Amino acid sequence: KIVCELGIKGSYLLFERALEEYEQAVKTFGKEKPIGFPNTAYFLPIIYAILGYPVKKLGDCGEVLEEIKKLLPKETSSEFFYWGKALDAGLVALFSEEIIEAIRYLKQPDFYCYSEDPGEGKLWLGAADDVVFRKRGVEFVDGTAPGFAAILGTPEDIESAINIIRDLQEKNLYVFLHGTGQGVSLAESLLQQGVQLGWSTRLVPFGPEVTSVAFAIGFACRVAMSFGGVKPGEGPKNLLYNKNRTFAFTLSFGAPSLEVAATALGVFNWGCPVITDVELPEIKVPGVCLYEHLVSKVPLDKMVDTALEVRGLKITSVKLDIPVAYAASFEGERVRKEDLYLECGGGRTLGVELLVSRPLDEIEDGKIEVFGPDIPDLKKFEEKGPPYRLPLAVVVEVAGANMQEDFEPIIERQFHYFINYAQGIMHVGQRNLMWLRISKQAVEKGFTFKHLGLILYAKIKEKFSAIVDKLQVKIYTQESEVKKILEQAKQVYRVRDERIAGLVDEKVDVFYSCTLCQSFAPSHVCVITPERVGMCGAYNWLDGKAGYEINPTGPNQPIPKGECLDPVLGYFSGVNEFVKEASRGKIEKVALYSIMKDPMTACGCFECIAAVLPEVNGIMVVNRDYTGLTPTGMKFSTMAGMVGGGVQTPGFLGVAKHYIVSPKFLMAEGGIKRLVWMPKSLKEELKDKLKIMAEKLGVPDLIEKIADETIANTEEEIKTWVERVNHPVLTLPPLM
Ligand code: SF4
Ligand code: NI
Ligand code: NI
Repeated sequence: KIVCELGIKGSYLLFERALEEYEQAVKTFGKEKPIGFPNTAYFLPIIYAILGYPVKKLGDCGEVLEEIKKLLPKETSSEFFYWGKALDAGLVALFSEEIIEAIRYLKQPDFYCYSEDPGEGKLWLGAADDVVFRKRGVEFVDGTAPGFAAILGTPEDIESAINIIRDLQEKNLYVFLHGTGQGVSLAESLLQQGVQLGWSTRLVPFGPEVTSVAFAIGFACRVAMSFGGVKPGEGPKNLLYNKNRTFAFTLSFGAPSLEVAATALGVFNWGCPVITDVELPEIKVPGVCLYEHLVSKVPLDKMVDTALEVRGLKITSVKLDIPVAYAASFEGERVRKEDLYLECGGGRTLGVELLVSRPLDEIEDGKIEVFGPDIPDLKKFEEKGPPYRLPLAVVVEVAGANMQEDFEPIIERQFHYFINYAQGIMHVGQRNLMWLRISKQAVEKGFTFKHLGLILYAKIKEKFSAIVDKLQVKIYTQESEVKKILEQAKQVYRVRDERIAGLVDEKVDVFYSCTLCQSFAPSHVCVITPERVGMCGAYNWLDGKAGYEINPTGPNQPIPKGECLDPVLGYFSGVNEFVKEASRGKIEKVALYSIMKDPMTACGCFECIAAVLPEVNGIMVVNRDYTGLTPTGMKFSTMAGMVGGGVQTPGFLGVAKHYIVSPKFLMAEGGIKRLVWMPKSLKEELKDKLKIMAEKLGVPDLIEKIADETIANTEEEIKTWVERVNHPVLTLPPLM
């Protein structure tokens, strides 16, 4: 009960601090001052998720405080020792922390770093905005990240701390780092030890004070709302979703302050146990939930195992026989100049990667050969380096009864991930633009090109077992050999590109579905055609075809086109039947090429949103990274809330970037001739392809006529602009 008592006291403290800061802030800013975390549609997410209250103005915080005060157990009553009340007090602690952090954003707008990784002398990242959240949150849903560990405080010895962190990273967990306001924080010491921090390495320094735990729990709340279909205000549902789906636990180091104890009570609500290295009375909450545990006095080297055990998390990762750590967490890690031992490709030397299929009898499964100097041989050239440079060709030859040439580029594209997951190895790009950097640390541990081959062998066999029966790897590091391979590879790339360019909707008999997103948008189906990629941009028609081959009962199913009922709007009898079935009757029909009539549903992970601007009779497109207001008067995040969820919303459409430059993009409405506004960065990104499309449509100067945020930001301004530049939209029939 001691922890309860401490915790409840701590909740009072946090509540009083929130109230005090609130009253101060009202004096400075007034109740009408807008408040919130940057660039998010979820307001203050814990409060929004659990209480359903969208905090928009400072004054709203006052109302919330009034409300949550009732949850605090009265000190004199016997309630004080009732568990449920202690958990409620924990909730109050987290709500208060969220308000305290929101007020910090008001008072010190520059306190946190507004990017994915620490930078500009700023360590703490603060709340994840919706761009970061989307990108990372989805990993909690698709299983790339099993969950997160919230770290409070700092272990005394930094060695053990690093071991714990590495262990968590190797298990693909996100590590949320929170200072406790005392001494040097763990995040700071890690940084001093040269450990790379940021979302890309899954080591997220949220904030220097325990109040920043609100960011971690807020993240979990948003996962439930965004991907789990849990509505704001469905408090218990949100807690349950996280208990069952997000494997989270807290590691707390050192004697807890009252505030830390309160926060521990708070996170219990989300099914998040707390493991600590100091002696405290054990807590097992009777009957409430399996995970509401406090396990104390755990030796540092046992903390991670204990946490996994208590939380019931089984991690089954195949151990690769290589000398460096291997996990998805290391994907985003860079190899910096001072750590660089060897680099290949990237314009510095020739570099090329190729995967080709061969007849079964030409492949010796598991054979890995290195032709030319391997990494240990470089020592001989000591006067030249490190860093050393070598030309490199990586050739993977595969064979399989179900293998098809169409699948080659799909497997080849995975090299990037497979290689990057190795700690101390960085991989960028693909094909003959590949760039590989290997760190001194990896070489010291004994990493060689043989291991690179082994990684590719093991991962391809694991992920593509349905189509690859045999596989061998050849690695070349001699200039003359690499040149030869490069020539062959260019041929292969050309054939592939021509084949893809020649793939048009009219020439195939089947489209493919993707229903991967049904886990969070149950009636959504992406119909993927040769000229329309899935709206997340990650799956094209060939991927769909391969996906079906690899997993015949999986999310990619063939959709026989059936009869073409309308070639302009894009109605196909087969598509209608499929969508009706796959949406469980929710959607009757889909027009593949229209935004106005029966447009495709959207889930939530579209790269961009297309929207009709009625005043201009045109269409705008905005990408996820654009955080400003769009001419609809809404931000991307607000629009995303309207479009997603698996419903048809005429006038709005989730689209992939690549689809914008497809001839089938909104063909029924005039295609890109309707395009009147898009963010400058998106325009820039698509420039070359847009130009080609525009020329085909007979409007070569179209790009200059499409407005962006530097030209116009309201429908009114766009209207003036299109008239001034004589935009082709003026010649098109009315949309409505
Ligand atoms: Fe599949 Fe579409 Fe979701 Fe992408 S957006 S994963 S294509 S359902
Ligand atoms: Ni790496
Ligand atoms: Ni999706």
